[in-house]
Amino acid sequence: MTGRLAVVSGGATGIGAATAAALAEDGYDIIVVGRRADLLKEAADRIGAGCGRPDAVEAVAADLTDPAQLAPVVAAVGDRRVDVVVNNAGGYLGGDQSTLEGVAAQWRANLDSNVLTAVLLTEALRPALRRPGGRVILLSSIAALRGGGGPYSAAKAALHGWAYDLAQQLGPEEITVNVVAPGYVADTEFFDGRMTPEGHQRRIDATLVGRAGEPADIAAAVRYLAGPSAGYVTGQVLGVNGGSVLGR
Ligand SMILES: NC(=O)c1ccc[n+]([C@@H]2O[C@H](COP(=O)([O-])OP(=O)(O)OC[C@H]3O[C@@H](n4cnc5c(N)ncnc54)[C@H](OP(=O)(O)O)[C@@H]3O)[C@@H](O)[C@H]2O)c1
Repeated sequence: MTGRLAVVSGGATGIGAATAAALAEDGYDIIVVGRRADLLKEAADRIGAGCGRPDAVEAVAADLTDPAQLAPVVAAVGDRRVDVVVNNAGGYLGGDQSTLEGVAAQWRANLDSNVLTAVLLTEALRPALRRPGGRVILLSSIAALRGGGGPYSAAKAALHGWAYDLAQQLGPEEITVNVVAPGYVADTEFFDGRMTPEGHQRRIDATLVGRAGEPADIAAAVRYLAGPSAGYVTGQVLGVNGGSVLGR
């Protein structure tokens, strides 16, 4: 697959880093995007070394909630086609909910982090998507399907409706758009000090397979949707959650 390009947001850590590594193994050149330049550079070097192509991964620092910061990403793509956009950046943002101002700030922060990052990156790269054959993949959450995260759940659910719309718009150009909705995945920065041993065990007990997810579990689903054999799959939400939510 030499000459193919994938852009992975949040590619320095957790699910994004595992996804970038999987796609690099498949021969894609990768652009990883996130806010922390040092972490991105480390990840790019590590993933490049891991796939035996030291220059395969480029790091571009940008806050994807800010339209003005998309220019360096577009510049890094240059005149290449983008085969895969993995909109993985996001997370749960807490806040003071004791005032309406606090409620508004938390909702805006979650919508910005989980929706706007994906919308701005996808729109910025839309002209460069490979036609036919491009792939847009959005990272949602089990929280979008069964609640549990307040504004985070709502923000992730918003991605589903937008994905259906985008799939309809881009389908005629043979570009697919799909959502991966992970369940509990340990070993990422997502819970960032918020996880307790009890919470960890409760999430494991809620699965049918009796374990926490790993970033590689989610990367495998993204890898499938990114690949040529998934060309007939579009406008879908793929749950990867160990069976903790069934059938949707
Ligand atoms: N872990 C789970 O259990 C779980 C479950 C369901 C869904 N998910 C979703 O999976 C995705 C990956 O999460 P993860 O678990 O791998 O957590 P993570 O390690 O916190 O990864 C999130 C990544 O997004 C980047 N990011 C956040 N805001 C950004 C912004 N404004 N601009 C650019 N990059 C930004 C972060 O890097 P910087 O901070 O350097 O920008 C970080 O690399 C998220 O969308 C998350 O909501 C996770």
